[in-house]
Amino acid sequence: MLNKIKLWKSSQKTLTLNDRVEQVQKLPIPNHIAIIMDGNGRWAKKRALPRIAGHHEGMRVVRKITMLANKLNVDTLTLYAFSTENWKRPKHEVDYLMGLPEEFLGNFLPELIDENVKVCMIGNDNRIPDRTKRAVEKAIVETSSNTGLKLNFALNYGGRAEIIEAVKKISNDVKNEKLQLVDIDDECFSKYLMTHHLPDPDLLIRTSGELRISNFMLWQIAYSELWFTDVLWPDFTEMHLLEAVEAYQRRSRRFGGIHSEESKK
Ligand code: FPP
Repeated sequence: MLNKIKLWKSSQKTLTLNDRVEQVQKLPIPNHIAIIMDGNGRWAKKRALPRIAGHHEGMRVVRKITMLANKLNVDTLTLYAFSTENWKRPKHEVDYLMGLPEEFLGNFLPELIDENVKVCMIGNDNRIPDRTKRAVEKAIVETSSNTGLKLNFALNYGGRAEIIEAVKKISNDVKNEKLQLVDIDDECFSKYLMTHHLPDPDLLIRTSGELRISNFMLWQIAYSELWFTDVLWPDFTEMHLLEAVEAYQRRSRRFGGIHSEESKK
């Protein structure tokens, strides 16, 4: 089996991007792909560049991966752009990261509009600079009627903070008798999360070889397929995304149950 996979993998390398796109389109595509874009700092360090050069290169990758996800008819692409813990970084790096959405949208919003991409955001906007908020808000408004890929930026986002916020809102609704305790289940809880309008991720990708979740979509990834790669985010290409989707297509998703053929045995 291992040899078969090795042979298949080496045959894949000779295919063009378009061939491979056509190939993955023959099987179910993950509806929601979430990505922890890690390794920008190490990418820059390897080149003796400042860390922000890695973030800048990472932004260029965001554009390519967005376009491919849209082409594959992925419903939602969530990108972990800034976590609630990233404020601990040096001020100049935080300032640079906070400027990236404005730069990205300043350059690519017309292309996102043309390509029918709908921009959205999860995260708490309380500490986000006004300029960044305005750039994201403008993109959200100008793409609001688009029906293609939902490009969802997780900005000042943390899974634990999101869950705590949901618990507070639920408690309030119970106190005000808008909600009964007996009615709180998975579906109800999900409605109180920032992702209430999105499906749960089917595929979670993390780059750079780190094997952790880092407070990302803790509730939503309960049954996501996880795919880790050593590739640093600025080196991540369309071929890597296709590789992740192909790996997803080989997985057997049972959601805690068993396959229907097995249940007949
Ligand atoms: C983690 O790498 C990466 C981030 C905290 C920022 C990710 C942001 C981008 C890829 C650009 C986002 C673009 C837009 C359009 C918002 P790291 O800095 O922790 O890398 P390291 O672990 O190698 O130090």
